[in-house]
Amino acid sequence: MAIRVKAIIGSTSSTSYNRRLVNFMKKRYADKLDITPVSINGVDMFSVDTENNPPAAVKAFKDDVKDSDAVLFAVPEYNFSIPGAMKNALDWLSRGGEATLRDKPAFIVGSSMGVFGSVRAQIHLREILSNPGLSPLILPNNEVYIGSIHNKIDDNDELTDEPTIAFLDSVVDNFVDFYERMTEMHSKKG
Ligand SMILES: Cc1cc2nc3c(=O)[nH]c(=O)nc-3n(C[C@H](O)[C@H](O)[C@H](O)COP(=O)(O)O)c2cc1C
Repeated sequence: MAIRVKAIIGSTSSTSYNRRLVNFMKKRYADKLDITPVSINGVDMFSVDTENNPPAAVKAFKDDVKDSDAVLFAVPEYNFSIPGAMKNALDWLSRGGEATLRDKPAFIVGSSMGVFGSVRAQIHLREILSNPGLSPLILPNNEVYIGSIHNKIDDNDELTDEPTIAFLDSVVDNFVDFYERMTEMHSKKG
């Protein structure tokens, strides 16, 4: 059975390339991953005043992420980091008496129109996710930086760059293998 993956789209843009990349992955890997994009649009600004009784949009967002086997982060780069809206969403996931992401198998992809494909943003994201309030189990040794994304995806959200597709295929296979190992480990632990 396909792994139920919630894909947190780190962009609020209606034309987001990272969202379109997830659309491609949802179709291409449907036999292995059951991917549902999760939007961060409409997630209120975090406040400790309301962390234990969050607004309805935040509660829905947290419940949506929680209801998954695994999480995929699709990361744009804003000013050499992750977009503020994405950081805000992660802050909510880390608080309110629960660490929503803790021990959830996860992997990261990212794209940008520049040549570096969101590498700086992803370095920050990995640092942020290492906080104990977040701490998903992130697939190691697989870093997906898709630069010049505007030249690699068509109007139907199909990636057109064969080396990029082949690389993504291998990352998804590695993630499935990682997921199986992580869940096996957890079941052994009881
Ligand atoms: C406020 C802002 C800052 C940006 N900063 C960077 C950057 O530091 N590095 C980069 O490669 N691209 C940067 N970009 C370009 C984004 O990578 C590009 O807009 C990309 O398409 C964003 O992802 P999205 O299409 O999923 O929203 C920036 C874009 C915006 C709007």
